Amino acid sequence: MEQLQELIAFVEKRARAHRFPNTPENLYDPLRYFMTLGGKRMRPALTIMAGNLFEIPKEESIHAALAIEFFHNFSLIHDDIMDLAPVRRGKTTVHEKWNQNIAILSGDVLFVEAYEQLAHYTNECLPILLKRFNETAREVCEGQQLDMDFENRKTVSAEEYIEMIRLKTSVLLGCALEFGAILGRQSEEMRKQLYAFGVSLGIAFQIQDDILDLYADPEKFGKQVGGDILSNKKTLMLITALETSDPRIAELLSMPANEEKINLAQFLFRELGVVETVKSEMERYYQQAQTALQAIRNTGMNTEPLSQLSDFLIQRDF
Ligand code: IPE
Ligand code: IPE
Ligand code: MG
Ligand code: MG
Ligand code: MG
Repeated sequence: MEQLQELIAFVEKRARAHRFPNTPENLYDPLRYFMTLGGKRMRPALTIMAGNLFEIPKEESIHAALAIEFFHNFSLIHDDIMDLAPVRRGKTTVHEKWNQNIAILSGDVLFVEAYEQLAHYTNECLPILLKRFNETAREVCEGQQLDMDFENRKTVSAEEYIEMIRLKTSVLLGCALEFGAILGRQSEEMRKQLYAFGVSLGIAFQIQDDILDLYADPEKFGKQVGGDILSNKKTLMLITALETSDPRIAELLSMPANEEKINLAQFLFRELGVVETVKSEMERYYQQAQTALQAIRNTGMNTEPLSQLSDFLIQRDF
């Protein structure tokens, strides 16, 4: 665990040390604000850990790691607009603290910062990094659009949900890991193995995020509790609850966005056994991730740090 904390501390330090231009203040102040709110920094840690497997020093992988973290933070600033979220990492969201236009534009420039990090690589890795980064960024947008489309749909299947979270969340974890293998000049096969580990882990991670969205301690979680049900997000919990055909779920969906709706969802999902079912689905994807990691371990590599990080992500309460 100590090694993991040290690595996260390294990423945090480098993320905070990044200097944005001073002016226009309304473009860059939100980024200075957002990038110093903390966050788990798990995606850049994944890149550095994956690079370590192939003896890539963290000073070399840090740019790819920061590219991923900047992109992630850009996606969060925009996601908070789309999800009408008031709080992020325990503080007011950018669109609430400034305004929506400022959140759009400062998010955009953070996306540019991600490319600037990638541009540090002037060797043969650059085209491959760019190709995979672009494919991933596009998929995240596709996943985000599906997530919003599903809010207005009456039914969504579990398969559609998994595909949506694979796109909006998991491919970025996969890409973060694959970046380590690209920098390590690894074969396509090794790249795919690391990517597969990240995708399964990411699916488990997003299912966990959805459970926490309804049941976390708001102090620890740092986000509004109940936000997903207020927007009728088709989480696996809601999908599983709908499958029971309990008439109270249709009522829940027609309720206005208020505290009562959150309380009812918390109660019904527990009563219908939905939380338990969804937790076991999460466990299944987590096991899939462990199997993928085992395949990498079998090639003779020390995957212990990756194993520690994945355990931490699944056991987290924030
Ligand atoms: C939040 O990601 C977005 C999801 C994919 C659920 P994190 O939970 O990693 O957010 P930070 O970076 O730690 O704040
Ligand atoms: C977000 O999913 C995924 C991306 C930002 C691409 P959520 O909307 O569940 O993330 P949180 O809960 O706001 O962090
Ligand atoms: Mg969202
Ligand atoms: Mg959100
Ligand atoms: Mg969420």
